[in-house]
Amino acid sequence: MSALDFSTKIGSKRFSNPIFTASGCASSGQELSQFFPLTEIGAIVTKSIMVKARTGRATPRMAETPSGMLNSIGLQGPGIDTFLEKDIPWLVEQQAKVIVSIAGESVDEYGVLARRLRSVPGISALEVNISCPNVENRGQVFACNPDTATAVIEAVRRNIGGELPIVAKLSPDVTDIVEIAGAVINAGADGLALINTLLGMVIDTNTMKPKLAGKTGGLSGPAIRPVAVRIIYQVHQAFPNTPIVGMGGVASGRDALELILAGASAVSVGTATFGNPKAAFDIKNQLEMLLLEKGFTDFRDAIGFAHRGI
Ligand code: FUM
Repeated sequence: MSALDFSTKIGSKRFSNPIFTASGCASSGQELSQFFPLTEIGAIVTKSIMVKARTGRATPRMAETPSGMLNSIGLQGPGIDTFLEKDIPWLVEQQAKVIVSIAGESVDEYGVLARRLRSVPGISALEVNISCPNVENRGQVFACNPDTATAVIEAVRRNIGGELPIVAKLSPDVTDIVEIAGAVINAGADGLALINTLLGMVIDTNTMKPKLAGKTGGLSGPAIRPVAVRIIYQVHQAFPNTPIVGMGGVASGRDALELILAGASAVSVGTATFGNPKAAFDIKNQLEMLLLEKGFTDFRDAIGFAHRGI
C-alpha cells in the first residue's frame, strides 16, 4: 500500500490517480489495452466524437517537427451511434474510468451530443472540445471567442443535466485565455482541459509545398510544454477552485509534475504515446515515485504548489 493518496477530483467525480490519456491519441483505448490494463490510469479520454461518422481530412495529415508533431486529422470518427453501441460498452467491460470528448459543427450539435450521452451509464465526465484547430471554418473554433464558447457550454449544460461534470477544452491560440476560461466557467463548466494544440504549418523545402494536405495542423509534443505550463499557471491563479486537466508535451513523470505544480488537478498524456504506447502507465508510476520522494502524502497538496508563497 502506497503512502501517497494519489486520487484526484474533477467536479463531483473522483479518479484513482491523476494520469489520463489525451483525447485523440488513442481512440477509445482499445490499442492501449494490449500494453497495460486501462484501470491502471486515472481515466481514458476518448477521441472527440461527433454526431455523424467522419473520415477526416485528406492525407498526409501528420508531420514531424523539431520536438513535436503536427496533425491535421480533422476529427475522424465513427459518429455517436456506433460509439454508443461499441466503444462505451467495451470501455465499461474493461472497468476503465471514461471521459467522453465531444465536438460539434454548431452549438446545436453539441446540445444533441450532450442529450445522447445524458443517461449513458459508465461515463465519469464530458470533455467539450471547442478548440480543434483542424476545421475548415476557423469560425468553428468556438474557444477563440468568449461568446461562442459560452453558447456551446450553456447548450451542453442544458442538455446534460446537473450530474455529469463538464470539462471545456480550450485553445492556446487566443490573446486572453483567462477571459475565455472565465466565460466557460460562468456558462457552467466544472473544469478546463488546457491546452489543445497550437495552429502550425510545415513547408517541405524539397517539394516547396505544405507537408500537410490540409496545409495547417495542430502542434503538440514537448515543444508546446512551456506554453501549457504558462496557461495552466495563469488560469489556476485566476480560478484556483476550478480543476484543470493539463496537457501539452508531457513525456515523463517530471513533465507531469511541472503541470501539476502550475495548477493541474490531472494530466493527460498524448503525443508521447506514439513513441511509447505505455507512456501514460509509465508516467503514472514515475509521478507517484517523484511525489513520494518530495515528501507528499496527498497528491492534492502538489496542485498549484508553484503559486505558494509568491
Ligand atoms: O484534427 C483533429 O481531429 C484534432 C482535434 C483536436 O485537436 O481537437
